[in-house]
Amino acid sequence: MKKRVQDFTIINNRQVNSEYYVLELQSDIALAELKAGQFAELRIDGSSEVLLRRPISFYDVDYKNQTISLLIQEVGKGTRKLAEALPGDKLNMIYPLGNSFSYEGVNKALLIGGGVGVAPLLLLGKVLRNNNIEPTFLLGFRNKDYLVDIPSFEKHGNVLITTDDGSVGEKGTVLDHSIVESGLSGFDKIYTCGPQVMMRAVAKLAEDKRVDCEASLENTMACGFGACLCCVQQTIHGNLRVCVEGPVFNTNEIIW
Ligand SMILES: Cc1cc2nc3c(=O)[nH]c(=O)nc-3n(C[C@H](O)[C@H](O)[C@H](O)COP(=O)(O)OP(=O)(O)OC[C@H]3O[C@@H](n4cnc5c(N)ncnc54)[C@H](O)[C@@H]3O)c2cc1C
Ligand code: FES
Repeated sequence: MKKRVQDFTIINNRQVNSEYYVLELQSDIALAELKAGQFAELRIDGSSEVLLRRPISFYDVDYKNQTISLLIQEVGKGTRKLAEALPGDKLNMIYPLGNSFSYEGVNKALLIGGGVGVAPLLLLGKVLRNNNIEPTFLLGFRNKDYLVDIPSFEKHGNVLITTDDGSVGEKGTVLDHSIVESGLSGFDKIYTCGPQVMMRAVAKLAEDKRVDCEASLENTMACGFGACLCCVQQTIHGNLRVCVEGPVFNTNEIIW
């Protein structure tokens, strides 16, 4: 798929909790086709402080209105600048990058996300629903103050929540949820994105339950297009670049 380098205009910056923001970007021209799981490399402001582009997943897309949404967790200098962006500001992106989730032959899917790893799962849930596949979201957060934009997920499927302190949903991690304990019957695919420790546990769960599983990895990236090798992941096929051969891998290929 041909990559574009394009300027977007920020038309909305919505804070969803103390760390997370949803940026809505407007394009002047028809958008390139995006697939769930793909990402963009964002040029922050070109300053020496944040010289390298930052990889960010597609959270949502609206082809008719030519808008793309990104979910941003403020963790450092680059994401802080994104969190502070104002309507009217310009943002340059290289997109679409990486591979995507697959869903051929899937009937009922469980989408397990934690923290900012919920980002690619929103667009995936929308795409699954549009393809008559029933998505259930299982999302884990620290506590009620860190929930991320739940109404957007509820538009596309059933949403189950866990929090570390039990302040919303069931107490514990996503792996402690009763849907997991009850055996995951009926699900023929699991998708996961989030902290590595969580994805690893989800991969083990999928293996135990014999359910096919894909994970979207968020290895640290520099170039984002396959040249620097800083994002490599050990797999059964050798070392692969998460920015080109990923970020989505079948979990039975990953050597964690
Ligand atoms: C394929 C992919 C998709 C991503 N999608 C999203 C998304 O949708 N929304 C979002 O907010 N973030 C996403 N990330 C993570 C995001 O790229 C990093 O948080 C961001 O680059 C940090 O930049 P910074 O300048 O704010 O932080 P820095 O100042 O560079 O670093 C601050 C802290 O963040 C950590 N960090 C840096 N890069 C990464 C990384 N790639 N992954 C995890 N931690 C990192 C550093 O170790 C450090 O502790 C994604 C990463 C990848 C690889
Ligand atoms: S980020 Fe440079 S090869 Fe992947």
